[in-house]
Amino acid sequence: MSALQTVSSLIYLVSAVCYVLGVHLMRSPKTARKGNGLSAVGMFLAVITIIVNVIIEKRITPTGWIVLILGLAFGIGYGVIKARKVPMTDVPQLVSLFNAVGGGAAAVIGIFDYLLKGDGASLNLAFSLPVWLDVIIGGITFSGSLIATGKLSGHVPGKPITFPGARLVNVVVVVAILASAWLMMGMETNVWYVVLALAMSLIFGLLMTLPIGGADMPVVVSLLNAFTGLAVAFAGFVINNQVLIIAGALVGASGTILTLQMAEAMNRSVANILAGGFGTGDSDSGSAAADVPVDVKETSADDIGLQLAYAHSVMIVPGYGLAAAQAQHEVAELAKLLGDAGINVNYAIHPVAGRMPGHMNVLLADVNVPYDQMKQLDDANPMFESTDVSLVIGANDVTNPLARESGNEISGMPILDVDKSKSVVVIKRSMSTGYAGIQNPLFSADNTQMFFSDAKKGLQDIVAATKQYLDD
Ligand code: TAP
Repeated sequence: MSALQTVSSLIYLVSAVCYVLGVHLMRSPKTARKGNGLSAVGMFLAVITIIVNVIIEKRITPTGWIVLILGLAFGIGYGVIKARKVPMTDVPQLVSLFNAVGGGAAAVIGIFDYLLKGDGASLNLAFSLPVWLDVIIGGITFSGSLIATGKLSGHVPGKPITFPGARLVNVVVVVAILASAWLMMGMETNVWYVVLALAMSLIFGLLMTLPIGGADMPVVVSLLNAFTGLAVAFAGFVINNQVLIIAGALVGASGTILTLQMAEAMNRSVANILAGGFGTGDSDSGSAAADVPVDVKETSADDIGLQLAYAHSVMIVPGYGLAAAQAQHEVAELAKLLGDAGINVNYAIHPVAGRMPGHMNVLLADVNVPYDQMKQLDDANPMFESTDVSLVIGANDVTNPLARESGNEISGMPILDVDKSKSVVVIKRSMSTGYAGIQNPLFSADNTQMFFSDAKKGLQDIVAATKQYLDD
């Protein structure tokens, strides 16, 4: 091993340690920023080491220099500008776009090396298997992630998109993908074999993502993130680069864990999500005043202000509607108002409240809600019995007591035990259902009052009313 290789391997080891410690620090919102920084340092070291290797070993042509410099300038420029400007709510589509780039880059590495090393000869299985996997997984991730980005950003319709004969097309594509494996691993290299593998994987990515409803996209993005990791790890095997293998394996493992956790918190299997067709998500009408059952008790901002001003403990339960209304500033203002008056205020955060992992944590952290007020499901549930007022804002499924019964869409899903608090106030626009599409008996419970309003407007009115009562 040359001195350059030894030093490079040591630096790769340092990079790998940075990634592992970075992921560890990301377990808590308090240390996540540090974890992100540490992982970025590891990535920076790895990229610089690779560039130095390429230069010292004179492996780069003049055209290669141009591509490298332009690629770095565009990648760094776009990454920095986009990451600084992106609103919190658009992060899932940005992550999905990054997945597409990662998967696409891994596929390109596989194709390039297959053509470079093959030169018309047969390849040994130890090389051709990772190349084939790299191209297939990278291709599926690329096209699937682009569709996911489109669905999340609204450029592709969020409804499940299917067509007659889709199953048959799926079978034909899978057979063609298997045929490409046989051709790439069992025959002398031929450009058309890898073209077939790439084309079929791209089509499979489209067929896999189009039938899935927009609201399930965060789970799909997380799964595609795991795919990106796998593709990158296989690219590492192809070009014999350890740091790529380690980074890819870490992304693959963490993406898989996140996917399983999200599916578990929704009480659905990953297979059920991929089968598609479940809820396109979001009711945006908020108009169904006519279908309000008679046994629902309506209340007003003034009455809620009075209840809050005289409470000892208040639990805020945010859900998708809070994010849709962008009402995080108003809720933080209300909580501060109550906190300054000596009232004990906390937030109960369900792991799948909203539409993306950590949705509520991200929104609330954005408006500087103290981390110690954000109670996760297991910590929040024992607190409800001693809570005077639970203020449910745009949340529905995550509070639905039907989850404790069998035979419905959310049976078995862990929920926030909001119904156990002394008084419950629900802010939403109508009696429309949430993501799971089922009615919520919490809304007609004896201790519940409904305030029909957009979350932002409703909270502004409640803040004004509460101020009045606190001043009195
Ligand atoms: P949902 O059950 O989807 O309910 C949201 C409620 O917000 C709706 O009933 C809606 O009623 C109300 N709403 C919408 N816009 C509003 C606005 N502008 N102002 C006030 N209210 C508004 O939300 P949840 O309780 O947060 O549960 C999340 C659901 O999404 C779960 O079923 C979960 O499994 C699923 N899901 C989550 C994720 C992740 S990772 N978080 C990913 C995919 C799916 P109105 O129309 O009457 O106002």
